[in-house]
Amino acid sequence: MSGKKKYVLVGSGGRAEFFYSAIATEYRDTSELTAFCDTNQTRMDYANRRLKEKYDYHEVNTYKAHEFEKMIAEEKPDSVIVTSVDRTHHTYIIRAMELGCDVITEKPMTVDEEKCQDILDAVERTGRNVRVTFNYRYAPHHTKARELIRDGAIGEVTSVHFEWLLNTRHGADYFRRWHRDKRNSGGLLVHKSTHHFDLVNFWIGSQPDTVFAFGDLLFYGKENAEKRGETRFYTRSTGNPNAQEDPFALHMDQHESLKGLYLDAEHEDGYIRDQSVFGDGINIEDTMGVMVRYKNKAILTYSLNAYLPWEGYRIAFNGTKGRIEMNIVEQSYVNSGGDKALEGALKNKSIRVFPMFDAPYEVEVEEKAGGHGGGDPVLLNDIFGTPTEDEFNRAADHVDGARSILTGIAANRSIRTGQSVSIDELVKFHK
Ligand SMILES: NC(=O)c1ccc[n+]([C@@H]2O[C@H](COP(=O)([O-])OP(=O)(O)OC[C@H]3O[C@@H](n4cnc5c(N)ncnc54)[C@H](O)[C@@H]3O)[C@@H](O)[C@H]2O)c1
Repeated sequence: MSGKKKYVLVGSGGRAEFFYSAIATEYRDTSELTAFCDTNQTRMDYANRRLKEKYDYHEVNTYKAHEFEKMIAEEKPDSVIVTSVDRTHHTYIIRAMELGCDVITEKPMTVDEEKCQDILDAVERTGRNVRVTFNYRYAPHHTKARELIRDGAIGEVTSVHFEWLLNTRHGADYFRRWHRDKRNSGGLLVHKSTHHFDLVNFWIGSQPDTVFAFGDLLFYGKENAEKRGETRFYTRSTGNPNAQEDPFALHMDQHESLKGLYLDAEHEDGYIRDQSVFGDGINIEDTMGVMVRYKNKAILTYSLNAYLPWEGYRIAFNGTKGRIEMNIVEQSYVNSGGDKALEGALKNKSIRVFPMFDAPYEVEVEEKAGGHGGGDPVLLNDIFGTPTEDEFNRAADHVDGARSILTGIAANRSIRTGQSVSIDELVKFHK
């Protein structure tokens, strides 16, 4: 194993493949994956089959969740990759560092302020590194917006108007499974908006200070469907006649990876991946509005809706020397469902700069091969390859991870209390 960095991965579900496929292909010579850890043996076995059959890699050892420490002792990894359910991230991040490993974790770093504080304290105590994989930062159009603002194209940013749209395929998916319980995901203001709030922090080079929010469940859920006159309900889609005509139904038996990862695995832990989005028991919001004041006094107005006809975003940055408008239509798909049939049709990206006293102009952005407009390969090289000096400092650490979730955590508290929330009251940073 000489010279190779050793990795183990916790949470071998849909997202895990992004990391294990990179190690098994492009970074095979410099990196080695030696084990999976999960609560579900069937999902680990599926990932192992995929490693072997799709990537021609060796199978790796598997450990159940209660054997995490045994795994670290036996495998002696340099880094632990955390791609489990959000609610569990902090446990693995903290224990991995205590046992002498660095950590690469998926977003959101965690789901509430107590767990966030525990992670910040553990980094301080152990001196280990936590890397949060914010792939959005690396998308060329996102990096371009940072470059324009950094280089003063619109002077100082004074306000940002940011509307993110999740559509009825991808947006609906959060209401079918564990995300629909706020305890698991922090709701979409943490789980999803962590990307968006991280981008704003990155773009304007500042940090959130005060947050106020409203949020509600106005489309998904049984009560909302009943109000619209719906009378045919079901608990899960697969094999249910009532789901046949429902455009929100997910038929897992019709898709190889959904079947292998979830349907064939549910006998072990009761993880039902295809619950009706119009069922009871959803306690996250689908309609959210947030106001944030930043340390540099810029004001953000942000909205997120999860049931819209297209997916992507519109953003405007107003500054002391002009305005930037970005309109981005994104791909959308069901995570691990693989069906990207609806891509294409409306796909477009535009960045327009309106200088205060000059003619507006369009900024061209070169898309490269790979996910997120070519951003994913750059992120993976940053993690597993030999990263070069990055003038944009896109590699995100535990502080970036924390700042990006604290806006959503504060927004959740504001929704509960009706009060504005100061970020400094939530956690104490060590630096
Ligand atoms: N950056 C991105 O674009 C992106 C995209 C998708 C998912 N993600 C993140 O990846 C993570 C996983 O999401 P997913 O869609 O793969 O979910 P998933 O449900 O497909 O997989 C989660 C896995 O965690 C396992 N798990 C549950 N409890 C556990 C525990 N206590 N210990 C160990 N494993 C446990 C489950 O059995 C499952 O295999 C989430 O944090 C999500 O936010 C990020």
